[in-house]
Amino acid sequence: MKRKTRLTKLGRNPIKQKGFINPGTYKGSTMIFSNFKDYLNDVKNADDRKTYYGINKNPFHKQLEDSISDLYNCNDTVLSPSGLASIIIPFFALLKKGDEVLINDSVYSPTRTFCENILKQFGISIKYFHSIHNIKNFEKLINKKTKLIYLESPGTATFDIIDIPFITSIAKKYKIPTVMDNTWASPLFCNPIKLGINIIIDAGTKYINGHSDVLIGFVSSDKNYSRKIRVTAKTLGICPGSEEVYLALRGIPTLELRMKEIEKNALYLAKNLLKHKLVKDVFHPALEHTTNHLIWKRDFTGSSGLFAFILKKKYSNTKLEEFYKKLRVFKLGYSWGGYDSLITFPPLIKRKFKDKLNGTLIRLYCGLEDREDQLKDINDALKILS
Ligand SMILES: Cc1ncc(COP(=O)(O)O)c(C=O)c1O
Repeated sequence: MKRKTRLTKLGRNPIKQKGFINPGTYKGSTMIFSNFKDYLNDVKNADDRKTYYGINKNPFHKQLEDSISDLYNCNDTVLSPSGLASIIIPFFALLKKGDEVLINDSVYSPTRTFCENILKQFGISIKYFHSIHNIKNFEKLINKKTKLIYLESPGTATFDIIDIPFITSIAKKYKIPTVMDNTWASPLFCNPIKLGINIIIDAGTKYINGHSDVLIGFVSSDKNYSRKIRVTAKTLGICPGSEEVYLALRGIPTLELRMKEIEKNALYLAKNLLKHKLVKDVFHPALEHTTNHLIWKRDFTGSSGLFAFILKKKYSNTKLEEFYKKLRVFKLGYSWGGYDSLITFPPLIKRKFKDKLNGTLIRLYCGLEDREDQLKDINDALKILS
């Protein structure tokens, strides 16, 4: 079956669902044993957190887990109540006191906050590297303490593409597990497992759900790491609510339609912004002039709705407020992936490597509105800055 068809069938089985096309939900904690022997056997599972209990064994949650594993063609997927909750699981699963983790500097800022404020408390050190500059010397960053490589490609706000197969080939040489936050691409536009990654993070909050009404996250892994990831997540008590699971499942059949549309919208706007007289540069990996565009072309099958552009000048917050007030289509807000277009002004202050970005950086998310309206909205607002 082609992917478009599979997307409409995943996670739903009308025969098991008493004829309904969509699954029924199971909610809650208590699961009743059918006999005493099963109960006695189950008690033995406590250490592995496989007990017959809502957190571990909800069959409805399994439908979503299996659907995401199918899309990523991986061994297992664990659900969590947000993308950020998913991000922390591999760190807890794979690191101990004295270990070191390598992370690209353009990582999603709350990932950095988790590392700086929590991981360091446990005696784990963090080394940030630039996704592009000096990457040929990446191997030199590895030492005996390096126990995890955590990647996000494209990076948040600057959309720098990492040469993932290059990093994973080095990681394999030293037997270091690799994690990649793949939220930007979703399973539709990149499969990190094929690039040699062991563990994938996907904030289902964004494209899988697609309607901005859910927080949910996934950790998908290959067979070497699945058990560790699942036991850690369940030991930490990580489990989303059933309504969230339902809404994430409901997003899957329309994923391709939505992704293809926002891809077109974002590219249209990005190409037009590149020609705008106030714009210094546009950071969108599908634009040919961007660094590592060819690596994006090799490793990804599409581009999504989130990108950034930089203005020639740096504007005051007062001026940016005037600009923002002109917008009718784009709204000021963080969590992208839905149908509404969004805008933010990423500060990048916590980064170790200070790229020479002298002008104002603006991040855009193109939703599902008409692309001419999206372009007109940004062009009209930019007039305030000229
Ligand atoms: C790249 C990336 N990863 C993870 C997350 C976290 O997702 P959530 O909002 O579900 O915690 C976000 C949220 O913006 C993100 O941009």
